[in-house]
Amino acid sequence: MEPPDQQAAPEGGGRRDRAVPRSAQFPPPTEDLMDDPTPDSPTPDPTGLFDLAGRVAVVTGASVGLGNRMARVLHAAGATVVVGARRMDRLEVLADELGDRCIPVACDVTSGDDCEALVETAARAGDGHLDVLVNNAGISVIGPAETETYEDFTRVVDVNLNAVFRLCQLAYGPMVAGGGGSIVNVSSILGLVAGTPVKQAGYCAAKAGVVNLTRELGAQWARRGVRVNSIAPGWFPSEMTEVMWGDESSERFVATNTAVGRAGATHELDGALLFLASDASTYVIGQTLVVDGGWTIR
Ligand SMILES: NC(=O)c1ccc[n+]([C@@H]2O[C@H](COP(=O)([O-])OP(=O)(O)OC[C@H]3O[C@@H](n4cnc5c(N)ncnc54)[C@H](OP(=O)(O)O)[C@@H]3O)[C@@H](O)[C@H]2O)c1
Repeated sequence: MEPPDQQAAPEGGGRRDRAVPRSAQFPPPTEDLMDDPTPDSPTPDPTGLFDLAGRVAVVTGASVGLGNRMARVLHAAGATVVVGARRMDRLEVLADELGDRCIPVACDVTSGDDCEALVETAARAGDGHLDVLVNNAGISVIGPAETETYEDFTRVVDVNLNAVFRLCQLAYGPMVAGGGGSIVNVSSILGLVAGTPVKQAGYCAAKAGVVNLTRELGAQWARRGVRVNSIAPGWFPSEMTEVMWGDESSERFVATNTAVGRAGATHELDGALLFLASDASTYVIGQTLVVDGGWTIR
């Protein structure tokens, strides 16, 4: 085996950068980087930890469902929220309700131009700086793999994974410019375990991609102050899952296989989101926080 500094190309064939830097996997820390950016205070401030006053957050897929709740939670914690989705009418209802500090932007996350406009709007609101990005927009297509069309598979991957990468990349600059930020990607338990009997190959593949993309970006960007983590929700009521509720066998399936014996209530994601978005998690990098009532514990 060749010593690392003689390896010509990284796995996957990229040739522009050296695969492994001569020094080490991570560059040696500078004195600055060794400093604790948030030195211990003699008086702990447990609620202040979650305070987002003065910060700017982007939430995608905020028109309905979990993203709509997440935007409200960040706003309630003091952030200015820039909310994106395709249904502008729903975003305007949210903005009217929240009053100030909520900026609706029509955004299809599969459009590069729309994603750029979304992040630019947020960076303008933050005088060039973006603090929080929540990549929540998602779709699912249910059906057996043998008949899932290639178009459906790639559409699901485009929205749930490719757009996440694009938005992380766009957010990186304005986050670094302001000294750092927190990216919270929304994965799923179906990025960790199989979905069957709720069959959805594209969705499972995309959500698993989000889990490891989160690790990789977390590793690449931690030293620039950009933390990347994700949340993997279990089953929660929303438009995406509405076919399941009211259907006896689906409800039994969720109740039987979830340790706590029920689906999640949307507010049960509030704590995980606030934790990852705020200074409560400054030493948490590349992790996926599973909020699933115990779905994946056995
Ligand atoms: N509900 C659950 O049980 C559950 C479990 C695990 C993970 N998740 C994940 O949680 C996230 C939110 O899901 P949800 O349950 O709240 O689903 P939902 O009610 O169907 O909401 C999905 C959101 O994504 C937006 N969206 C979809 N395609 C988009 C696109 N191309 N561009 C921009 N926005 C788009 C939708 O807005 P527009 O239609 O207005 O564009 C909507 O606001 C998703 O990533 C989902 O995979 C949900």
